Amino acid sequence: MNTHATTRIVGAPVPRKEGVDKLVGRACYVDDMKREGMWYGATVRSTIPRGLIRSIAFDRRIEWSEFTVVTAADIPGENIIQLIVADQPCLADGKVNHCEEPILLLAHPDKHKLREALGGVKIEYDALPPVFTIEESEQQDQIVWGADNLLKSFLLEKGDVDSAWAGAGHIVEGEYRTGAQEHLYIENQGIIAEYSAEDGVTVWGSLQCPYYVFKALRGVFDLPDEKVRVIQTETGGAFGGKEDYPSILASHAALLAKKSGHPVKMVYDRMEDLAATTKRHPARVRHRTALDKDGKLLAIEIHLDTDGGAYATLSSTVLSRATLHSTGPYLCPNVRVRAQSWATNHVPYGAFRGFGAPQAVFAMERHMDEIAATLDMDPVELRRKNFLHDGDTNATEQLMREPIILDKLLDRALQASAYHAKCAQFARENELNPIKRGMGIAAFYHGSGFTGSGELYLNSLAGVDVTPESKVRVLVSNTEFGQGTNTILTQIASEALGIEYSDVTMAAPDTDMVPNSGPTVASRTSMVVGRLIERACLQLISRLREQAGLGATHTREEFLAACERYRVAHGEVSSMCRYEAPPDIYWDDQKYHGEAYGAYAWAIYVAQVAVDTVTYSAEVENFWAVQEVGRVLHPVLAAGQIEGGIAQGIGYALYEKVVLDGGRMTNNQMTNYIMPTAEDVPPIHVYFEEVPFRYGGFGAKGLGELPHDGPAPAILNAIRDATGVSFNSIPLLPEDLYAGLAASHPVEEPALP
Ligand code: MOS
Repeated sequence: MNTHATTRIVGAPVPRKEGVDKLVGRACYVDDMKREGMWYGATVRSTIPRGLIRSIAFDRRIEWSEFTVVTAADIPGENIIQLIVADQPCLADGKVNHCEEPILLLAHPDKHKLREALGGVKIEYDALPPVFTIEESEQQDQIVWGADNLLKSFLLEKGDVDSAWAGAGHIVEGEYRTGAQEHLYIENQGIIAEYSAEDGVTVWGSLQCPYYVFKALRGVFDLPDEKVRVIQTETGGAFGGKEDYPSILASHAALLAKKSGHPVKMVYDRMEDLAATTKRHPARVRHRTALDKDGKLLAIEIHLDTDGGAYATLSSTVLSRATLHSTGPYLCPNVRVRAQSWATNHVPYGAFRGFGAPQAVFAMERHMDEIAATLDMDPVELRRKNFLHDGDTNATEQLMREPIILDKLLDRALQASAYHAKCAQFARENELNPIKRGMGIAAFYHGSGFTGSGELYLNSLAGVDVTPESKVRVLVSNTEFGQGTNTILTQIASEALGIEYSDVTMAAPDTDMVPNSGPTVASRTSMVVGRLIERACLQLISRLREQAGLGATHTREEFLAACERYRVAHGEVSSMCRYEAPPDIYWDDQKYHGEAYGAYAWAIYVAQVAVDTVTYSAEVENFWAVQEVGRVLHPVLAAGQIEGGIAQGIGYALYEKVVLDGGRMTNNQMTNYIMPTAEDVPPIHVYFEEVPFRYGGFGAKGLGELPHDGPAPAILNAIRDATGVSFNSIPLLPEDLYAGLAASHPVEEPALP
């Protein structure tokens, strides 16, 4: 099955393709760029969560003739940001549905004049009652979206849940909540736009998905394809936060560019970026589980609800992934998941690493420990007893065709962390120590690539060409934003072509230069796009063998000479491949039934946590991450992805709280929105087991999102082990720990004399 047993470049820790440019400061981010005659743009935003715009007035002390002012009336095409549902305006027109909603745009040659001008636009509103919680939205007293506030719902059913309860040995229920989370990419959102009648719109910016921005601009400007061009600049982190929002910012900058007749740069500062852009969806997940007397799962019923915010954005696809990951890597004959995403008057929530799975996995894995406690079972053995094995079907009745090695991953995690010895040791020490230590575990899987028929629908096209200067170029719209796209796709191409890593470059991520190989999301790049590049390269080799005299084995020089002969005889040397689904794939989008994902990555995470019962702070002291992600293409980048995801997961669990007041984020500064620093991140021990996936690039599956799924439940399970108290909501801050511990161990107040 492992057809790539010996490779030179794939699997080796080659230098990052763009590493030196970043190291020496040559990398050009959008805010490093200037265009001739460039102006700056700024956004006037709603200060209320919901209402009608009564009037817009301009302070006469400001010289407005120096400014370009854009309103919804200036939009040449449709006032809609094209994504999945056509509901979100590019600029509010008459009504607002969330705080910070863009209403009006300003541009000026001097960016310092913009701040004053922003304060000179006075908007009066007729306020309408806002909706801020899932509970208020599902009540439907106020309808803030569509006919019923429901952005999307799914029903997933397997077997017969209703008849499972009567014969159950145990029934365990629980409710789990997760909060919003900010991406905190190092580089804020930023775009430069130009407009000319001849060329149409051109934008440069910090973004994940050039063709998403392309589609949005085409709609806002009502332009044909050849008059829209999107170029990704070096991007300083994204984590999903630059999947959808750049479409809005690019439209804004381009509207200002068109009306002003100048290139316009818009780069948010941190406060605006935190307040106005998307975050992870908050969720409420209710579990009801039937087990036999030995702890075998009989039925799982889940009600999963998310706060989607004011517009649909990506709420449907995030909810889909949450639904499909909600029952974990377990075998259960009877399943029902009802999932709903509710509109509120919050800033729209969007894509964030894991895309719904972290919310669902937190609930499932916290719940497994609650089940273990109820049944008085070892949480490790409860999981082991219920693991999926190859040949089983999961909740969508997807047949698990590939080998599943969860038991092996679990054994390795237990051994590496000395799990059972530490549990026993801490149980003894905790008696006398005000610092209570505990061990927690989480088992989970993460589907790679788009859900169901999504990859077929994307119809990705990717390939390679060879320039007359003998440079091989990888042609993809997939982008580098710190995670390693350039490096791994270059590794794959150079390995498959039998040439050197340094012979291969990435074509510019520019919609005029590269085909649409789909968005850089959903842990799809290595597996799906990597496979396309591998196939395109193998196709080129066989063409050179047939038509340019390349031998059955070849050196790098022979390959390049064959390319030259081919060019002379036939012209351009290039090879493109389109996505093809693996055989026997079946997916029913209505019933949510079938092959939900091409492949799954599997993991067991273990957290060691200390809870200080004097300061009520919790600290992750040590962390073990064991995973199977298919073939590891680059061991250093892969381990880095895992470590980074775990750090972000620690923040999700213990530090990062989006404080919302009246629909506005009030802690929109990095001094107040607390994220883990190096000081808060423990030693992270990363282990890979490799089971190459035959339809992934050199055997790779996805790994980018996986590490965000496991830390939060492992950490809260460790806190339960340490304190004996169940905490079912994140983020879990010291005040929450205090409240929970005080409620469970009432402290006797000393009697007053
Ligand atoms: Mo991602 S959260 O699929 O950009």
